Amino acid sequence: MELKRAGTGSWKGLCPFHSEKTPSFTVHEPRQFFHCFGCDEKGDVISFLVKVEQRPFMDVLTDLATAAGVDLEIRPLTPAERRARHEAESERDRMFRALDLAASYFEQQYLSPAGAAARAYVEGRGIGQEVRDRFRVGYAPSRWDGLSSYLADQKIPASVLEQLGLVGVNERGRYDFFRDRVMLPVIDRQKRVIGFGGRLLDPEAKDRKYVNSPESPLFHKKESLYGLHAALDAIRRSGTAIVVEGNFDVLALHQAGIEEAVAPMGTALTVEQVTELGRLASKTVTVVFDGDAAGQRAGQKAIPLFVDADVDGRVARLPAGVDPDDFVRGAADGPAAFRRLVEGARPMLDQFIQDAAEESSIPGKIATLERVAELLVRVRNQTKRELYAGQLASVLGMTPQQVTRALREAAAQAARVNRPSMQADAGAPAAASAPVAAAHLPSEELHLLVLLVSHPELMGNPEAARAGQLLVDPSLRRAFRVASEQIAADQRIDVPAWLESASPEVRATLAAAMMDRGISSAPDPSAQLRKLAIKLETMRVDAEMTENERMLREARTRGDEATARALLVRGIELQQTKKGLQTASQRP
Ligand code: UTP
Ligand code: MN
Repeated sequence: MELKRAGTGSWKGLCPFHSEKTPSFTVHEPRQFFHCFGCDEKGDVISFLVKVEQRPFMDVLTDLATAAGVDLEIRPLTPAERRARHEAESERDRMFRALDLAASYFEQQYLSPAGAAARAYVEGRGIGQEVRDRFRVGYAPSRWDGLSSYLADQKIPASVLEQLGLVGVNERGRYDFFRDRVMLPVIDRQKRVIGFGGRLLDPEAKDRKYVNSPESPLFHKKESLYGLHAALDAIRRSGTAIVVEGNFDVLALHQAGIEEAVAPMGTALTVEQVTELGRLASKTVTVVFDGDAAGQRAGQKAIPLFVDADVDGRVARLPAGVDPDDFVRGAADGPAAFRRLVEGARPMLDQFIQDAAEESSIPGKIATLERVAELLVRVRNQTKRELYAGQLASVLGMTPQQVTRALREAAAQAARVNRPSMQADAGAPAAASAPVAAAHLPSEELHLLVLLVSHPELMGNPEAARAGQLLVDPSLRRAFRVASEQIAADQRIDVPAWLESASPEVRATLAAAMMDRGISSAPDPSAQLRKLAIKLETMRVDAEMTENERMLREARTRGDEATARALLVRGIELQQTKKGLQTASQRP
């Protein structure tokens, strides 16, 4: 077999353990370790030879030692060690065997007279025999002791069945966990059954639509993907993995010839699943969501996982209220249309930033800036990060300096809060090394914070919450959030700890402002708060008016009369708001 260099210390070649045309067999020289991303075989030199040459472990070891001129003093395993190893191995084997037998039992039941309703259901959803076989779709009959007595006949110990969640136990004994459900086995990359999802058959039943096997020594939901065993080849061929939400979406897509589809196991997508898909798919992992609000939220939740797994993710959106199953089966050209949708999917961050353009209010933009910045500082590739930062600036109508400042804040925050290890290799804007000069911060905003921290009892005041929302400076917004959380929890604030939570520059400015007795010992704190809230509100209205005028000019240049009219109306509203604020500020 031939290996080619594939980077420092690693080699690649065709895998000897399964047939393939493109190499996925990798050898890590420094770690003395091989792994095939195709069939997931892995191990060291010895286990490699054991597998390739089909020879006993001890043989291989002795040969290698002789070749290397090492005198192996072989200590045979003690009987206790041998028993322990044997038991551990056979325990796992027994579990795999039990799951495999269970899947076969469900398949038999599906084809038996008892399975008539299940067959009608599955066929009614357009699933043909081939896909059904490949996914080992089955049926758990409506009995309490179907699977349990079958597996007892097969001499599978009851303890194993309990451990796998195939049977439950109560006062009256053991009973089948899955009853009257279409059974969808979860199958791993070596095509072994590791767990089950069971879908309710009777639409009138009050039970949960799906029940899934519990976690077990073989079944880890956060790492498993439904359909992966059937999708591996297609994902490798096209370089793209497609993630959908439902098991039946996976089945419908495979039925439609879109075989790259997989789904997480009844939970939200995890970073482990994304990492695994990223390794398999050479180009991209595309997540397909429903186009409604819930789908959009789910899509946004997925983005940080991709950023953290460093996987190039894309999102494709379906029309609202349509899932992939509906989509591919809804029209004759559904499958082709679905392909086009996946091919046209936009990079996640791109989409995320573009969605930010919908924010037109100043506070909305600020909040968006913070949210996206938090994500961008985790992007490992510097060029990518810079390009997105540029896009963000233009989408939000901000200067690159403003975005850079937000990134620096976010990087400093991330470094403080959670992952001290990330910042170094993230190459994030070097905040930590910046000299500690006091930051220049908007004075009214600073004033508000110092007032609230000196008079924590004011925090419960609705004007305080309102003013907090109006803060424009990201670092002060954060400082406000920290303060209000602390006060809500303890009715007091630990000022040194609070200062500690800010970046050094901001801390310096805040500390200086706190010393300034003019601010912290105001005569009538609640009147001060009211004045400040009005002031901040006025500033926000002013900023929005400026923005509104800019958009109005643009709309007129485009000749977009409808938008221009709407903006004019908005302008008048803003003027009225401002007048109201002026009146309020003159009241004692
Ligand atoms: P869906 O309800 O979209 O699943 O839930 P689906 O497979 O498309 O179902 P139907 O047959 O078309 O109605 C998405 C996934 O969430 C998990 C399952 O893994 C399901 O496939 N789920 C859903 C549960 O684990 N429990 C539930 O009660 C519902
Ligand atoms: Mn569905």
